[in-house]
Amino acid sequence: MQVEACKQRHLSIGLVPTMGALHEGHASLVNRCVSENQVTFVSVFVNPTQFNNKEDLALYPRNLQADADLLAQLGADFMFAPTPEEMYTQDEMDTTFTFDFAGLDQVMEGKMRPGHFNGVVQVVSRLFYLVQPDRAYFGEKDFQQLAIIHHMVERSSLKNTFGNLQIIDCPIFRAENGLALSSRNSRLSEDKKDLAVNISRVLFMSRAWAKAYPVQQVEKMVVDTINSLPGLEVEYYQIVDATTLQPATSFTNAVGCVTVYCGPVRLIDNIKY
Ligand code: PAF
Repeated sequence: MQVEACKQRHLSIGLVPTMGALHEGHASLVNRCVSENQVTFVSVFVNPTQFNNKEDLALYPRNLQADADLLAQLGADFMFAPTPEEMYTQDEMDTTFTFDFAGLDQVMEGKMRPGHFNGVVQVVSRLFYLVQPDRAYFGEKDFQQLAIIHHMVERSSLKNTFGNLQIIDCPIFRAENGLALSSRNSRLSEDKKDLAVNISRVLFMSRAWAKAYPVQQVEKMVVDTINSLPGLEVEYYQIVDATTLQPATSFTNAVGCVTVYCGPVRLIDNIKY
């Protein structure tokens, strides 16, 4: 309804898709969206179809009232917070959404979380159909997600559907100490937060290592250094080509993506070389 009214009045629409528990990182996306569009929609939806782990879904932080208050302060025009039943039919929830990822889902997060990106593409494409944004804003912290969303929009049949939709890549928002902001950080104690800071510290150090060592050695140095800190455990660290997500052979157009368990909390981060 609101979308139709905006379209009739030729207002530019910006969309910030989120899963809520909004933090300063989200606020930076919303601020940018508000400044670049006449109307800003923010979706707050903990999408069940992208969770391959039921416990992770159950424990995902939710705080709708605080989210609504923050969005009002930031000047967002609409918060869209549907229930799973409003978003999907039972059949859609029970069946894996299929999509041609051109292999982008076969590495890193896709490999560790089977079906995760099927759910992401399912919900993001649904949001695009519903909101018909001119621009959609995503954080680079989820680097693989962003590569997949670019691929999804650029596939010719979808390009026709989504018209001139622009995907806007927004830099990782870090706390002053370097920790990448994440809704999952709210599950970390202060001690664990101090420990988690080492993830970005090691990634930044690896930029210097990249000047002196080949890719595979830098990968090993990052993994070994993080794992040497009690309480942190690397799930994977991979330096990949930023476009194809295939293992990098040099540091040109390369990004290093890491997933680390800090106690039971799974954190991701990445660095461009
Ligand atoms: O990055 C996220 O928060 C989610 O994966 C997204 C893009 C909102 C889809 O549920």
